[in-house]
Amino acid sequence: MAEQNDHVAGSEELIFNPPASLQNEAHVNSMQQYQKMYRHSIDDPETFWREIAAEFYWKSPPTGKFFDYNFDVTKGPIFIKWMEGAKTNICYNMLDRHISNGLGDKIAFYWEGNDPTDHGKITYSQLQQKVCRFGNVLKNLGIKRGDRVAIYMPMILDLSVAMLACARIGAIHSIVFAGYSAESLADRILDAHCCAIVTADGVWRGSKLLNLKKIVDDALKICDERGHHVDKSIVVRHLSVDEEIINNGDGDDEREAARPSHKLKINWTAGRDIWWHDMMQSVSDVCEPEWMDAEDSLFMLYTSGSTGKPKGVLHTVGGYMLYTATTFKYVFDYQPDDVYWCTADVGWITGHSYVTYGPLGNGSTGVIFEGTPFYPDAGRLWEVIDKYKVTKFYTAPTAIRALMKFGDDIVTKYSRESLKILGTVGEPINPEAWLWYYNVVGNGKCAIVDTFWQTETGGHVLTPLPGATPTKPGSATFPFFGVVPALLTEEGREIEGPGEGYLVFKKPWPSLMRTVYGNQERFETTYFKKFPGYYCTGDGARRDSDGYIWITGRIDDMVNVSGHLLSTAEVESALITHKNVAEAASVSHPHKIKGECIYCFVTLKQGCQYTDELVVELKNIVRTKIGPFAQPDFLQNAPALPKTRSGKIMRRILRKIAVGDRNLGDTSTLADESVIDLLFNNRPNNA
Ligand code: PRX
Repeated sequence: MAEQNDHVAGSEELIFNPPASLQNEAHVNSMQQYQKMYRHSIDDPETFWREIAAEFYWKSPPTGKFFDYNFDVTKGPIFIKWMEGAKTNICYNMLDRHISNGLGDKIAFYWEGNDPTDHGKITYSQLQQKVCRFGNVLKNLGIKRGDRVAIYMPMILDLSVAMLACARIGAIHSIVFAGYSAESLADRILDAHCCAIVTADGVWRGSKLLNLKKIVDDALKICDERGHHVDKSIVVRHLSVDEEIINNGDGDDEREAARPSHKLKINWTAGRDIWWHDMMQSVSDVCEPEWMDAEDSLFMLYTSGSTGKPKGVLHTVGGYMLYTATTFKYVFDYQPDDVYWCTADVGWITGHSYVTYGPLGNGSTGVIFEGTPFYPDAGRLWEVIDKYKVTKFYTAPTAIRALMKFGDDIVTKYSRESLKILGTVGEPINPEAWLWYYNVVGNGKCAIVDTFWQTETGGHVLTPLPGATPTKPGSATFPFFGVVPALLTEEGREIEGPGEGYLVFKKPWPSLMRTVYGNQERFETTYFKKFPGYYCTGDGARRDSDGYIWITGRIDDMVNVSGHLLSTAEVESALITHKNVAEAASVSHPHKIKGECIYCFVTLKQGCQYTDELVVELKNIVRTKIGPFAQPDFLQNAPALPKTRSGKIMRRILRKIAVGDRNLGDTSTLADESVIDLLFNNRPNNA
């Protein structure tokens, strides 16, 4: 089990009732109503979800069972199906359906650039036209239903256009967060056999200029070397450039980026590289949606796996559409005049479900933000909230903790009067951060929704409902409609009442992942083998005497760095590519802002010196192989590693050494106890 998170003394007893102002308008405004709806969703899921499905457009109804599944590996292959045989198109439901209902002129998204003077907006009709155009561009390039398209883009409106255009023509999008390295991008393109990629020339993130095109070029080169040729790379010209020097065939182009003092140098491979704006000019803005089966694939999104190789989590059209829209409606208590802002990057699942599909499924107005919370200063989020009069706001604990450091004044100098609901996601939120969010950001008048979910779950699974659930700081509270959680002992026995164990789910809800792309066996092994009959989250959780659920963190070898999951194996495989490294072990380590960070133990080959330069080289290797966000915070020279007699590294002991805790518990299985002192004495000064 992972160590328990810090709790504010007595935080289990602290209870915050839903704000009365919110309760008056909320879709669900009492626990009785929540419980009634919850029971209905569990006792009769078919009727519950059929009623919700009726609000969407279906070309034709399901042909077989409304839903069907097997969670028990001992009984046969794992499968999950919702509304199989029904025909629909998610893009049509996100755009055309609302336009037909008179929402064409409603703002779909405000766009706020990295630079506070850069902004834009797009209505539902305008978005639909752009999506149709880009759908036609993709079709003209020969991309068809079922093809995989990689997207590596900054947070710009064209990113939403690209993903919705894929969905419209039935292509499967595979979005890779534009902070991953060329190697990570290549791994993902190769795994999915993507036939095209959509990117942008570059982007400013805070005061840093990133050359996305170069990263994509490098990734495509790696793909070529490994035998997979991507012959279409569509490039959005995002940074302002000199009109004279575009598209001159092979060779280097120098373009002015948004800041005149910087030049972005990009290469152009004629025949493969295509400017987005060139293609968009000559196509029609009418694009008939491809009518998809509810169980056809919508997208894959890669998430770290404990073996080191990322898993392509596969989501399908129908169930994902219903569940993201329904969770958005109830968890953010969607009202038509809302301005909703989720700060997550679309490259992560939060951006898929709660920047794009959930909000658009409801016809809401959202904000897409390109920048960072700290640029030009740490008041940026609150400034943007005032600028667009944001009513519902969704961010990560890591951002809250980082902003707390700057004090209250930089928050309170902005009005934040419009705010009603504040959401958090991605990692356990410590009660101190929860209380600061509630008292300072929300001025003590907003509901906080701590939403627990995963890339795999597609949408929120444990969460308060803002008009109904009395909240406790640090608890994700209760299950959403259709979700049946349980806590299991190591032996797989269900824990009734208060207790702590493995967090699992007993039944599927519509947006649970369907498989690991191209690897059903890995899907079954990762999520269903340990406890047959249950979907296993990989997290530990505790239920208190009031039935509230508290997530205690990962119980596998995953590290949650600033809300981003990384596997320790992934970091270790990067480290051992250094010529001087014989062996490496990395573990999760508590971090005040990031929640967790990576602490690495490195064993060098005979005769190699552990120097400051080597530490820098090792950190850079991880940056290059995975991405800058994965860089370890601590590295330590480990002349040897603690191992069992069968040679297994004892990570439990390494985690203790990393925090300097000599309380090691049972060490009887250690092959060589002398390693322990050696490692304690070698801890880096900054640890
Ligand atoms: O450990 C849990 C943590 O993030 C993991 C899922 O990560 P990912 O697939 O990247 O998706 C993140 C965004 C949904 C979970 O297994 N996690 C996520 N939300 C919470 C959380 N831990 C505690 N509380 C949360 N609210």
